Amino acid sequence: MKVIRTIAELRQEISLKRQSIQSRESVVGLVPTMGFLHEGHASLMHAAKQKSDIVVLSIFVNPIQFGPNEDFDSYPRDEARDVETARAKGVDIVFIPSVEEMYPQPTQTTVSVSRLTDRLCGASRPGHFDGVTTVVSKLFNIVQPQRAFFGMKDAQQVAVIQQMVNDLNMAVEIVPCPIVRESDGLALSSRNVYLSAEQRQEALVLSKALRVAQEAVDAGTALTAADIRGILRQNIERSPMAMIDYAEIQAFPSLEPLADQEKVHGRDDLLIALAVKFGKTRLIDNIRLQKSEVLSHV
Ligand code: PAF
Repeated sequence: MKVIRTIAELRQEISLKRQSIQSRESVVGLVPTMGFLHEGHASLMHAAKQKSDIVVLSIFVNPIQFGPNEDFDSYPRDEARDVETARAKGVDIVFIPSVEEMYPQPTQTTVSVSRLTDRLCGASRPGHFDGVTTVVSKLFNIVQPQRAFFGMKDAQQVAVIQQMVNDLNMAVEIVPCPIVRESDGLALSSRNVYLSAEQRQEALVLSKALRVAQEAVDAGTALTAADIRGILRQNIERSPMAMIDYAEIQAFPSLEPLADQEKVHGRDDLLIALAVKFGKTRLIDNIRLQKSEVLSHV
């Protein structure tokens, strides 16, 4: 496995690896991350390994997707451990550029998706998705992957990136991968390390609220969107520490919110999404309302 820090070297290495593969149609799979890898990232690397000939993992804590009062400086980092994890997962190339390598100053171009980014996380993190789409397009241009792998915990990010790919005719297939959870239901996130033991325990209200909502829908009653919002809030508010940013139900991937009186039953295109703060730590979680996804392990 090669650890590479410059764009020029990365391009050269990918081209050499492509030449060494017999098939002319070699597939490069990109797993973009901000490092501090956990089992969620491991599942992306696993999926990439299965669906690509060459797996590139990028590790870059992207400053332009953090707001001025967010955790860019304190975002957890452990490069040595990440490199070992990538090696163990069979990654071919780890790309770890510096901020200067990715953003030689002054830059004047931003990739921005409208509408989809003005809601949910976009409403409370202005500019966040512009930072994401800009860095992801740069990574697509640098690596030129045929497939790119993203976790569904960031469901809005997946919808936004897919929209960007469609709108800009980017020749890359976006592969969304399922959320990975701790055995007690907490969705894996690099930010979970910020939680105190007590907050970590209380944070279980997120997956619990999603499970209760899913069960209510599965029970087949004539629930409306307002009922679902009520169920979510009621369950999250059981934790005195939880501060709700949003607890929403909308269509996926359009992210169009459902009107309060709209019926939920019988639809398989819905996403229930939560963002809840515990102290300074903002956690997100979601579930697709589909018969196939059940939080059975919670
Ligand atoms: O999901 C993330 O870790 C980041 O938003 C991404 C896609 C690597 C872009 O910086």
